[in-house]
Amino acid sequence: MKIRKAVLPVAGLGTRFLPATKAQPKEMLPVVDKPLVQYAVEEVAAAGIPLTIFVTGRGKSAIENHFDVSAELEYELAGRGKNPLRKQVRAISSLCDVVYLRQKYPKGLGHAVLMSRELVDEEPFAVVLSDDVIDSRVPCLKQMGEVFDEFDASILAIERVPKSTVGSYGIIAAEPVRNSKWNGRLFKVTDLIEKPSPSDAPSNLAIIGRYILTPRIFRKLATTRRGKGGEIQLTDALKDLLKDEPIYGFIFEGKRYDAGDKLGFLKATVEFALKEPNMGSEFRKYLKTLKL
Ligand code: G1P
Repeated sequence: MKIRKAVLPVAGLGTRFLPATKAQPKEMLPVVDKPLVQYAVEEVAAAGIPLTIFVTGRGKSAIENHFDVSAELEYELAGRGKNPLRKQVRAISSLCDVVYLRQKYPKGLGHAVLMSRELVDEEPFAVVLSDDVIDSRVPCLKQMGEVFDEFDASILAIERVPKSTVGSYGIIAAEPVRNSKWNGRLFKVTDLIEKPSPSDAPSNLAIIGRYILTPRIFRKLATTRRGKGGEIQLTDALKDLLKDEPIYGFIFEGKRYDAGDKLGFLKATVEFALKEPNMGSEFRKYLKTLKL
C-alpha cells in the first residue's frame, strides 16, 4: 500500500456529547473498554499505515498520553503480576508513530486537514474521523487502499443513508463504475455538497469519515472559503478538486457507527459488548431479561 500517513483531526469541541465532553475529549469516550480514537488508530495500523498525524487542540492532552508509554502504570501492573494487562497497555503506544499538530482556531475539517500540509507533503494520504467507528472483516482503510492502488485518485468512503438524514453529511452525486471488481460499490463522483437539505441532495450517498486524498487537495484547501456553518469544509475543497482530477466514492464492506452521536454511541457499545469474548454471553443474557 502506497499510503504512509493518516491525518486524524481531533480538535473538535464534541458539542454533540455535552456534558460528558466538558472536561474530556470526545475521542476518549470508551466503547466498551477502548476510547474511540484507539479504534481509529488501530484501523490505521491494520491498514499498514506507519504514521498518524493528529491535528489536535486545547484540552486534548489525554489523547497524547493515551498513545504514549506509561512507565509508572506498566511498573505498577508488572509489580502486581498483571502482565497481560501491562502488555495491552504497552501495545497501544506501539501501534504506529505519532505526530501532534495544534489547530489553533476551530475553523472546520478542511482547515484541520490543511494544517497537516507540511508534514504530509506531496504524497497521497488518509484522513480518519474517529466519530465513525467501523466494524469490518477487512479494515475500511485497507479496502480503500486497494481501490486507490487501482485508480490512483482520491477515494471517499460512502454509505447510503435515509434521505431524512442527508443534512448530517457530505453528499455526492455520482455515476456507478461498471466492469470493476467492486461492481455496485464503486462510483465516480460528479458533484459534492456539504450537509444539504433533503430537497437539495443529489443522492443519498453520504461521505463517511474515511478518505484517501491526493496531495493536490492542499492547494484547493488553501483557497477554500468558509462554507456551511461558517467553517472551511473539506467537501467544498473536494468539489474544487473535481475540476482537475477524478474522485471516487466507495461503499465499503462493514458496519459503521456514528459514535459521535449519543444514540450511535449506544448502538456501538451494545453491539461491541455482545461480541466481547469475556462478557458477551453474560451481557446477552442480561439484555434478554429486560422487558422491552
Ligand atoms: C464531516 C464532513 C462530512 C462527512 C462527515 C462524516 O462532518 O464534513 O462531509 O459526511 O464528517 O462523518 P461532521 O460529522 O464532522 O460534521
